[in-house]
Amino acid sequence: MKAIVVTDQAAGTAGMKLVERPEPQGEGANYGDVVVQVHASGFTGDELSWPSTWIDRLGRDRTPSIPGHELAGVVTALSYGTTGLSVGQRVFGLTDWTRDGTLAEYVGVEARNLAPLPGDVDFTVGAALVMPGLTAWQGLFEHGRLRAGQTVLVHGAAGVVGSMASQLAREAGAYVIGTGRAGGRQTALDFGAQEFVDLDNDALEDVGGVDLVFDVLGGDIAKRSAGVIRAGGTLVTITGPTEARPADGLTIDFVVVPDRAQLSEVVQRVRHGRLRTNIGNVAALDDAVAAFNPTERIKGKTIIRVRQ
Ligand SMILES: NC(=O)c1ccc[n+]([C@@H]2O[C@H](COP(=O)([O-])OP(=O)(O)OC[C@H]3O[C@@H](n4cnc5c(N)ncnc54)[C@H](OP(=O)(O)O)[C@@H]3O)[C@@H](O)[C@H]2O)c1
Repeated sequence: MKAIVVTDQAAGTAGMKLVERPEPQGEGANYGDVVVQVHASGFTGDELSWPSTWIDRLGRDRTPSIPGHELAGVVTALSYGTTGLSVGQRVFGLTDWTRDGTLAEYVGVEARNLAPLPGDVDFTVGAALVMPGLTAWQGLFEHGRLRAGQTVLVHGAAGVVGSMASQLAREAGAYVIGTGRAGGRQTALDFGAQEFVDLDNDALEDVGGVDLVFDVLGGDIAKRSAGVIRAGGTLVTITGPTEARPADGLTIDFVVVPDRAQLSEVVQRVRHGRLRTNIGNVAALDDAVAAFNPTERIKGKTIIRVRQ
């Protein structure tokens, strides 16, 4: 099969290349695995800096490794224990960080990481939903315990995760204040923010008493955000540990995890027109190396359409 691989950590993205690799097999596969023919794949731009791209769970070198951990595709083989899925089924989901990923024509993945993708949702849309959908859902509702009537401040609200978080929060009955750069204002409002704070020109500190901050920016912005949270509120961040603490409240940093039920919740909202993806670029697998290394800033999610 065709796949993108990385072999040399020092080379960074310059070491990415399109090669032929053996297809993952259903027979003899690990308990619970399925093989999926990848139709659309998503990746995160900083994956090559993650230890999991280079070593497995026992710390062993696992290169050449295939990056990309978001997918939509069709199940082609099952191993023992793949409850809930069948051959020929359309699926979407998140693959294990420490295994070969989805910038390939086929991938082996635990069935529990996948959810059925309804026939009326395009593979490109399915792949674009996985990471932002799960991250936004988990940040808002699991870690942030957001409820109707509360106010949430969503940083980077015109971005990939922020635009998803704004829509889900709004739909759940929260009041949504988005932030970002001046140029992101209209996009943030279009994705459901009811107010917008331009972080370069407005004072973040003027925002008062929010119940939850959903942070995607980190650093100084995360620290300053703690001050706009009402006593007892929550700061959720996806950029790693921070010392920022709301008064009498909680700070939670987390990394997204696969969740079949949450994927189903998110995709139903897409089907019913209550949620939309923020896709910026769609490229073929042959052009994936260039898409992973854009020469200019691309807004929105990049999806690799592996199979046309
Ligand atoms: N922990 C996890 O599980 C997890 C999951 C998904 C993503 N992430 C991380 O979350 C971060 C956000 O991901 P994303 O895909 O949503 O990125 P994105 O699409 O680039 O969104 C970021 C948004 O914030 C804006 N922004 C960036 N820096 C800013 C600043 N200093 N002031 C004001 N606005 C700023 C960007 O505007 P411009 O477009 O104008 O720059 C963009 O609208 C990334 O670091 C990603 O690696 C973590």
